[in-house]
Amino acid sequence: TGYVTLDRGYKNTGATKSAITFLDGEQGILQYRGYSIEDLAAKASFLEVAYLLIYGELPTKEEYSKFENAIRRHTLVNEDMRNIFNGFPVSAHPMAVLSSLVSAMSAFYPDSQDEKGDVDKHIVRLLAKLPTIATWSYKRGMGHPTNYPKNELDYIPNFLHMMFALPVEEYKVDPVVAEALNILLILHADHEQNCSTSTVRLVGSSQANIYSSISAGVSALWGPLHGGANQEVIEMLEAIKADGGDVSKYVDMAKNAKTTGFRLFGFGHRVYKNFDPRAKIIKKAADDVLGKLGVNDPVLEIAKGLEEAALNDEYFIQRKLYPNVDFYSGIIYRALGIPTNMFTVMFAIGRLPGWIAQWKEMREQKEPIGRPRQIYTGATLREFVPLENR
Ligand code: CMC
Repeated sequence: TGYVTLDRGYKNTGATKSAITFLDGEQGILQYRGYSIEDLAAKASFLEVAYLLIYGELPTKEEYSKFENAIRRHTLVNEDMRNIFNGFPVSAHPMAVLSSLVSAMSAFYPDSQDEKGDVDKHIVRLLAKLPTIATWSYKRGMGHPTNYPKNELDYIPNFLHMMFALPVEEYKVDPVVAEALNILLILHADHEQNCSTSTVRLVGSSQANIYSSISAGVSALWGPLHGGANQEVIEMLEAIKADGGDVSKYVDMAKNAKTTGFRLFGFGHRVYKNFDPRAKIIKKAADDVLGKLGVNDPVLEIAKGLEEAALNDEYFIQRKLYPNVDFYSGIIYRALGIPTNMFTVMFAIGRLPGWIAQWKEMREQKEPIGRPRQIYTGATLREFVPLENR
């Protein structure tokens, strides 16, 4: 049935029209619903940005308070979900737990299968419960008791309370930490048709429910070429440090990626060809936050040295490879006390409003089922040989 145009990795294929996020890769511009990422990161709260992405406009005071209060009231996770959670090994990667439990939510809220169900309620549940589920993994890994959410706290302080409060001492949220997290979550909130978002849309295009669709997005995000890169970056920087700190050796290895199989994690991007505007903000925030918290992380110096060495290297210049959002984010997470295996979970909490907004837009636009074509390269017709004759 006609010709198929091959575009591996969809490098040049548009799959939808969208009014959510504008991205200009040549000029390094990123805007959510027309608001620049720089403006939002400096002035907005993460939940305001979530509302903006999902509903298209910044909320009025009244809309915001209704939205925020609804989220506050839904932070508890059904206790039966604990049984599923407790079945995981303590060593389970928090991303494995997150994708499974988000998928399990579809069983706890079966009306999500219903086209006419209350989508806004599912949206609130997802935004409210994702941080709670995320902190379960961390607490269990530490051997600490779980903290139930404290709903008088705002979204980010509540997350920090669930993560870091201990029954034996009073926990006070450090405003520097809360502000840094606010910026990071906003910068991760949407990025148009990236791999995990396209996955959410593709799964949702079969009219699968919102929880299943978002669970698939979490799985897609986990990969080291996508959100998993933030964990890989810190592990790479640690390895360079342990190896004596010679960044040029690693730049050389990455130049020969074809033979060494080694890539500089946190470098390169499918769309940004001059710089990643998120990386610019995050690099500055890393300096600010570490300074304010009085954290001296030798890995920050290694990261800066590595960036400089790569940016002055012909291989990286020719291919227009620059630090991306994942390059400096892990250094901030670490300074906030968030362990390496939780970095990609933090990305997921940030990206959730984007996934929701894109799923919702896709359904409202009544997009057809996603179904790419292929060029067949296998055997031509041949005759079946019975087993005894093979
Ligand atoms: N280190 C060394 N070489 C690289 C790198 C890298 N990080 N990234 C790309 N290249 C080379 C690649 O080998 C290719 O070279 P050649 O032209 O000789 O074949 C050229 O640059 C183009 O790369 P590509 O793989 O064709 O580009 P892509 O658009 O398919 O991939 C990418 C984009 C982000 C997957 C890739 O740059 C990469 O693997 N980066 C490292 C992982 C990473 O940091 N991912 C996070 C992405 S940003 C946020 C997110 O999605 O989470």
